Amino acid sequence: MIMYICLEGIDGSGKSTQIALIREWLTTIGQKVLKIREPTESDIGMLIRKMLQSSRATEENFQNTLALLFAADRTVLMEEIGKAESDGKVVISDRCFYSSIVYQNDGKWISKINKHAKKPDITILLDLDVETALKRCEGKDQFENQYFLENVRKKYLELAEKEDFYVVNANNGLNKIHHDIKRIISPKFGICI
Ligand code: TYD
Repeated sequence: MIMYICLEGIDGSGKSTQIALIREWLTTIGQKVLKIREPTESDIGMLIRKMLQSSRATEENFQNTLALLFAADRTVLMEEIGKAESDGKVVISDRCFYSSIVYQNDGKWISKINKHAKKPDITILLDLDVETALKRCEGKDQFENQYFLENVRKKYLELAEKEDFYVVNANNGLNKIHHDIKRIISPKFGICI
């Protein structure tokens, strides 16, 4: 059985910590795991990371350029996911095309340029208030600001309804969040926790 699991959430929502914990747990239950993240480590991903620090990052035109770059960066991953699938691995991803829908200026074209992006089998949204999230951010990216992230959070919650995400309260402690995530994933592997 192959499964593509994605964690989404605003900057500072604790995705990377939880992904490390899930990876460890999946390994202990005997699964082979591929961990990926967006933006990737590719040249396009590196360019994106640099651009995210520009003071123009939230401007409409800039966001359109970013949306195209994120979509291009993602195509590289689709190949990797395909290979993992044939190797029988579980893919656990830090973000996917849903991030583009909520962070870039939405509109139908974002979905169009991401039509080759694979939809995760399970998407888990780590939801928490922006104030708490911002305290955990390094403050290097332009998206890490209260006004911008309030809007992103709102869009995430709307998308969660539409796309049937699992929503986990990320204001809770590390262990409780991990337990909540395991409760979502374990039945898919026929496990009771
Ligand atoms: P983030 O998960 O915060 O990575 P890191 O922890 O390595 O800094 O992602 C970087 C930023 O990229 C984050 O602000 C969200 C943004 N982003 C988009 O705007 N659109 C996208 O499609 C993706 C994948 C990320």
